[in-house]
Amino acid sequence: MILYPHLDVNGEGHLTIGGMDTVALAREFGTPAYIMDENVIRTQCRTYLQTARRCFGESALPLYASKALCFTGIYRLVAEEGLGVDCVSGGELYTARAAGFPAERIYFHGNNKTDDDLRQALDMGVGTIVADNADELDALSRIAAEMGRTQRILLRITPGIDPHTHRAIMTGNVDSKFGSAIVTGAALDITKKALATPHLSLAGFHCHIGSQIFDTAPFRDAADIMTRFIADVKAATGFEASELNLGGGLGVRYTEHDPVIDHAAAIESIAAIVRERAAAAGIAMPRVILEPGRSLVAAAGITLYTVGSVKEIPGFKNYISVDGGMPDNPRYALYQSEYTALVAKRAGEPADFLATLAGRCCESGDLIGEGMRIQRPERGDTVAVLCTGAYNFAMASNYNRLPRPPIVMVKDGRARLAVRRESYADLVRNDL
Ligand code: LLP
Repeated sequence: MILYPHLDVNGEGHLTIGGMDTVALAREFGTPAYIMDENVIRTQCRTYLQTARRCFGESALPLYASKALCFTGIYRLVAEEGLGVDCVSGGELYTARAAGFPAERIYFHGNNKTDDDLRQALDMGVGTIVADNADELDALSRIAAEMGRTQRILLRITPGIDPHTHRAIMTGNVDSKFGSAIVTGAALDITKKALATPHLSLAGFHCHIGSQIFDTAPFRDAADIMTRFIADVKAATGFEASELNLGGGLGVRYTEHDPVIDHAAAIESIAAIVRERAAAAGIAMPRVILEPGRSLVAAAGITLYTVGSVKEIPGFKNYISVDGGMPDNPRYALYQSEYTALVAKRAGEPADFLATLAGRCCESGDLIGEGMRIQRPERGDTVAVLCTGAYNFAMASNYNRLPRPPIVMVKDGRARLAVRRESYADLVRNDL
């Protein structure tokens, strides 16, 4: 087992994913390529759904935060597993609809939804819009009125929690660009406004405190603060929220230094707080919504590359250059996120070569990791980078005019293409 049980080493010493040889997959589909183990995603969906129902009751619903990995096949898979989805743009809504995802199970997020986005959402019959600010409430009310509709909404609230994570992905603080803060009084004000605005039907509140969080304490704090807020709103206005969306953010293991996290146990501990606080505050237990992205898809994915060169600079460092890089995985360049890498055909051997894994782009910052321990490869070898299922394909670009890699799904000993590799013709398609 290498980090995760679906990754292993076969009799030939090759890395396998879902029982399939990664050297053979690289040969069949080319590199770079994202390979995803479908059963891992399905199992995670079931863990979230079953745990949420057990802890919060049958009405509880996990949403897949589709910004983590967005293509039509993932919406079909999530629909089959009975989850809802969180979409954050017209493009994600369009993709969900193209996949036939049930619109009533879509929650539409974003701090700056355009009028076109809102019209598109209403046209599709999106179940819930998570409204961010007062301007959006006015725009939504106007558009819903034009269409002769009343739209179900939640309000995005910032509970003011520092989840001790990377600053760029910390969104629960009061100075966030997202939502309305409780401590400043803005959250109560926008609640009153939402209740008084025609064509809107307020169901409850949403918060999301950040991402890649291992400690459950900040989630319990958020659950505590949000449940009290529901009680305070009831006391101030008489409105009792029937729904509480606690966002996503549970972490995953990228390296062996990261803790093993039991997602079901984390949900249970959060549930206990909501139940206890709701009972203490004399409010009914709300319908609880969770919104995981990373923890549903990250571990399922790996990226396969081909090594182009190994450059040793004595006294300094060693570079392994591969045929992808920041265009298919910008997370080291953006957040210095750490990954685990293996030479696929020697996965069982000691990782005794200290190297910087570099991409092929014309800039020095194009790195997938520094100070990585890996087997020493040669030109032509396949390198696998683990845990790339979330925020890799979704954040990929065509920088240096590199075509985006394909997504290959493996399941029960079979591999199938889920997203084709972009071609050079795709790259010039919109150039006039
Ligand atoms: N709900 C909302 C409102 C969110 O903003 C997010 C993530 C999620 C749910 C899902 O969070 P997750 O369970 O995936 O942590 N690009 C960054 C991550 C940005 C997360 C943004 N919001 C990265 O690569 O680490």
